[in-house]
Amino acid sequence: MQRLKDKVAIVTGAGQTPGTTIGNGRATAILFAREGAKVMLVDRDRESATETQQMIEAEGFQAMVWTMDVTNEDQCIAMARACKDHFGRIDILHNNVGIGTGDRGATSISLDAWDNIMAVNLTSMLLTCKQVIPIMREQGSGVITNISSVAAWAATGMVAYKTSKAAILALTQNIAMGNAHYGIRANTILPGLMNTPMAIEGYTATTGKPREEVIAARDSRVPLGKKMGTAWDVAHAAVFLASDEAGFITGVNLPVDGGQSLRVG
Ligand SMILES: NC(=O)c1ccc[n+]([C@@H]2O[C@H](COP(=O)([O-])OP(=O)(O)OC[C@H]3O[C@@H](n4cnc5c(N)ncnc54)[C@H](O)[C@@H]3O)[C@@H](O)[C@H]2O)c1
Repeated sequence: MQRLKDKVAIVTGAGQTPGTTIGNGRATAILFAREGAKVMLVDRDRESATETQQMIEAEGFQAMVWTMDVTNEDQCIAMARACKDHFGRIDILHNNVGIGTGDRGATSISLDAWDNIMAVNLTSMLLTCKQVIPIMREQGSGVITNISSVAAWAATGMVAYKTSKAAILALTQNIAMGNAHYGIRANTILPGLMNTPMAIEGYTATTGKPREEVIAARDSRVPLGKKMGTAWDVAHAAVFLASDEAGFITGVNLPVDGGQSLRVG
């Protein structure tokens, strides 16, 4: 289809948590490349990002690996410069990195865990936007997509993950309004229950519950077909928002959740 022909995209968290299925960041990077984009694969895990690069190159497409921590401002400055130097421009910034490590309820979470989740999930998106937006302004175009979660809207016991994911909606709307007159669009995707390693392997590792039991319980909670989505569902939404087909769409919060966010209780 080549819906992103000749575009240059940065995807953060383009590696993935080890597991048997594909992660959101990796699937998005692969679909971007298939649709014609040159992709900068950002991750703190070089090996995992390199695996994504090998998958993309095996299909005959282009990608470069950039190892960094997205919470570090100097490294975000270097990331934007490197993308511009290497590919000549930045058309798409896809902020996918997100974690829930150490999250708890409000009375039991440690301050370190809170600070870390807020830094990785939220502040990192500000830092990458801060460096990429000036380049997009000069170009007079650009698309930013930030990955939140339906946890932003739903009740959840995890205070830091939910709060960070809700704040991403506000950050993205602020960026959308502040940059619309430069031709820059900014939107948020809210994945629901997805069958990804972050969700399944991440949960089984911390709870010790059998994998099949975790999958069945999550599947049963999804209104559409009683089955979780996959990383490809998020990736397809990301391609659409990044493409010119979404050229009049900005400031939108798009759930990709099989109707889960419609449920009350
Ligand atoms: N899987 C789900 O069910 C689900 C649901 C809702 C939202 N999400 C969101 O989707 C996003 C991630 O999905 P995924 O499947 O790609 O996850 P993943 O865990 O497979 O991949 C995330 C990648 O981010 C990298 N990373 C983590 N911290 C980093 C940092 N500080 N700097 C650079 N890289 C870092 C990791 O090394 C990893 O490769 C998150 O924002 C998450 O909150 C997922």
